[in-house]
Amino acid sequence: MRVKCISVVGFGLSFCSFVILVHRTFGDVSYSFPEEMKSGSVVGNVAKDLGLDVKALFARKARVDAEGKRKRYCNINQNTGELIVAERIDREALCGKKPSCVITQELVLENPLELHKVILNIEDVNDNSPRFETDVIGIEIAESTSKGAIFLLDEAVDADIGKNSVQLYSLQTNAHFALNIQSNMDGGKYSELVLQKELDREKQQKVTFVLTAIDGGTPPRSGSVVIDVTVLDANDNAPVFSQSVYKVSLPENSPVGTVVITVSASDADEGQNGKVTYALGHVSERVDELFSLDGDNGKIAVKGSIDFEEDTSFELKILATDGSGLKSYCKVVIDITDVNDNAPVIVLKSLKSPLPENAQPGTQVGIINVQDRDSENNQQVHCSIQQNIPFQFVLSIKNYYSLEVAGELDREVVPDYNITITATDEGSPPLSSSKTIYLSIADVNDNAPAFQEHIYSAHVKENNKPGSAVCTVAATDPDWRQNGTVVYSLFPSDVNGAPVTSFLSINGDTGVIHAVRSFDYEQFKSFKVLVLARDNGSPPLRSNVTVSVFIMDENDNSPQILYPSPDGNSFMTEMVPKTLQAGSLVSKVIAVDADCGQNAWLSYHILKATDQGLFTIGVHSGEIKMQRDLSESDNMKQNLVVSVRDNGQPSLSATCIMYLIISDNLAEVPELKDMSHDESNTRLTFYLVVALVSVSTFFLVFIIIIMAVRFCRKRKPRLMFDGAVTIPSTYLPPNYADVEGTGTLHSNFNYDAYLTAGSRTSDFKFVTSYNEETLPADVTMNKSQTPISDFVGLRNATNDVQRLSDSAVFTHFTFLSYIPVLAFRHKDAG
Ligand SMILES: *[C@@H]1O[C@H](CO)[C@@H](O)[C@H](O)[C@H]1NC(C)=O
Ligand SMILES: *[C@@H]1O[C@H](CO)[C@@H](O)[C@H](O)[C@H]1NC(C)=O
Ligand SMILES: *[C@@H]1O[C@H](CO)[C@@H](O)[C@H](O)[C@H]1NC(C)=O
Repeated sequence: MRVKCISVVGFGLSFCSFVILVHRTFGDVSYSFPEEMKSGSVVGNVAKDLGLDVKALFARKARVDAEGKRKRYCNINQNTGELIVAERIDREALCGKKPSCVITQELVLENPLELHKVILNIEDVNDNSPRFETDVIGIEIAESTSKGAIFLLDEAVDADIGKNSVQLYSLQTNAHFALNIQSNMDGGKYSELVLQKELDREKQQKVTFVLTAIDGGTPPRSGSVVIDVTVLDANDNAPVFSQSVYKVSLPENSPVGTVVITVSASDADEGQNGKVTYALGHVSERVDELFSLDGDNGKIAVKGSIDFEEDTSFELKILATDGSGLKSYCKVVIDITDVNDNAPVIVLKSLKSPLPENAQPGTQVGIINVQDRDSENNQQVHCSIQQNIPFQFVLSIKNYYSLEVAGELDREVVPDYNITITATDEGSPPLSSSKTIYLSIADVNDNAPAFQEHIYSAHVKENNKPGSAVCTVAATDPDWRQNGTVVYSLFPSDVNGAPVTSFLSINGDTGVIHAVRSFDYEQFKSFKVLVLARDNGSPPLRSNVTVSVFIMDENDNSPQILYPSPDGNSFMTEMVPKTLQAGSLVSKVIAVDADCGQNAWLSYHILKATDQGLFTIGVHSGEIKMQRDLSESDNMKQNLVVSVRDNGQPSLSATCIMYLIISDNLAEVPELKDMSHDESNTRLTFYLVVALVSVSTFFLVFIIIIMAVRFCRKRKPRLMFDGAVTIPSTYLPPNYADVEGTGTLHSNFNYDAYLTAGSRTSDFKFVTSYNEETLPADVTMNKSQTPISDFVGLRNATNDVQRLSDSAVFTHFTFLSYIPVLAFRHKDAG
């Protein structure tokens, strides 16, 4: 078993597509080895011959593929890079009589894609002996036949080819015949018998000798046949062909029945002896299948389908026999001409699909092989793909094309391509075929979420319910699946010194922003938060948008009267000179409203006056003016009850009393004197003083108690109660002050009702009370150190004290502030 590598042709082909240099390592390697090798025999080291890295073969899925629909005859050993025989190869079965038996296989490697042709040249082994079709060849020869006459002998067949086919004939030595060896068009040998010495039937009726065919193998093999010559006693002529060789060309695919040629032989004899019949000499099976011979007239016609791609020429031997059995022969050579009857065949060898959308121009996507079985121009193929797609078709090697990226890909614009490859040959008429390749584009996270608006603004009414939706942001991301899934969050920042999460929360899936607390317009009118959107790719892409929250005013503040002092101090009185004319300004009620707009648009009205019609008040200015001139009869003391009302819905109001004394001289003011002269007034004043003194005493006592309690508590500084007092007021909703007074939270702060629980990515916090959220960290720690029972007990006690003291203070001041009112009423009534 001798294995030799005849040639290794390596192409390190560099394709220069203008700017980008792409190196490809396509190469051919060819091996010659004899047929009949055992499977597993090593043919050669293909990895070494192609310069491939043996270690990478496994990873690159090196494999041998057969071209087209052929069988796979060899394999690659991925560990050693050796090419091994996959199954026994019988050259005769594979290639028949073809002078060379070449099988093309392909070595395919992936990552990057590489394709090499492996050409296997199967060498013949002399495993067949020459063989004649019959054991005996009978020939009849007239005794009158002259010296030099030639008789065709049947050809010996040897399935082997070349040197291993029949090379030599030898004739057993005899007195009459010599041997003439001839060559066929295909190189095969046949023999003719040449008459050297005339025959004489009277001397010898039969001549018998042996013909041996020998092949050229080492060692040679042979086969033999007995030739039996019968000498005829007649005096006639053998048929003579008009040409010894007929040459004709026939287009392939000629229809059955087409007459190829008519051979004719003439015989000088008359009657039965001159009647010539024709027959095919020894022919191959193939010829027998394709051609028929009319024995009577020598017409050769097409019998089967003639394919140039199978056979390009035929040689037929025609025997002409006359009535007395005399024979002669001629050769007919039929050349088949090619017709463009095969459309190009497009074979997709590999395809990288799906292709990532960020594939750079020049990236190889697939390899396509185009074959045309015709010859010459009919075989020249041009390939193209449709226009307007970002791909190009590049001829790589012989009939291999590579499909390459030629432009920008964007899955968000075109998610897949149907690439149609058209191959046309140069025949006339040309034939073409096409193939459509489906290529899908894979997503890459190349788009950040984009908010639908550049800026969002939300308008919220103050005193809103915590948990109510404020606004919804939406961002879109055109990427695929998780690369396009948007998750929202709030950018951690401070609003008025408190973390943004104590104001707003966002549902990560839906982008709905909720208020966490109740807002107070009087505390702040607007704030801004940054909302982030990111996708779920890795790494994720982000974008952000500003949400401005505007808090809208509600009429939740009553007007506040600055002048006259609302606690109704009767000592604050206005002097009205007696000389004042009608229309002159007397005084002015000054009030403010913490709300804004209509809610703070104040109007002033006199509810009650000592003397109706003496004074008027400007509805919006609050200016009190004289309505008429003063007269002597007018009461010296004039009191006005003024109500200040805002324009909200519903409107809120406040009331004050304006004390006026009509006098030019402060000394004349008889106020207190008047009061003490009045019997009932004196009595009332007395009661009031008693009440005032007792309440004040009561109050002072409680102040002392509170001081005492607080002093005791200071010695236990870890207590929660202290912490609660230190809560910064900006953290708290308006009602929060309650916590000091009663020690319990208002029912408004029970948030369970509006939580968006169950949301996967929501950062909405489950707020149970403001305590947890807003207490400073150290306070929370203190709380955990204090036993609950201690804490509750003490808190209750201190709260009770606190409540009592508070109500005392309240009562005290209420009482004080009512004294002038009561006095006024009393006086009025009097
Ligand atoms: C490609 O062909 C497939 C199936 O034939 C079809 O579903 C798809 O829409 C086509 N794509 C394009 C971009 O034409
Ligand atoms: C998302 O993008 C990455 C690259 O950025 C890619 O590897 C991944 O396959 C993409 N995911 C999907 C579902 O397409
Ligand atoms: C918000 O987006 C801008 C521009 O896209 C970027 O410069 C900035 O860093 C982003 N801010 C945050 C907090 O991510």
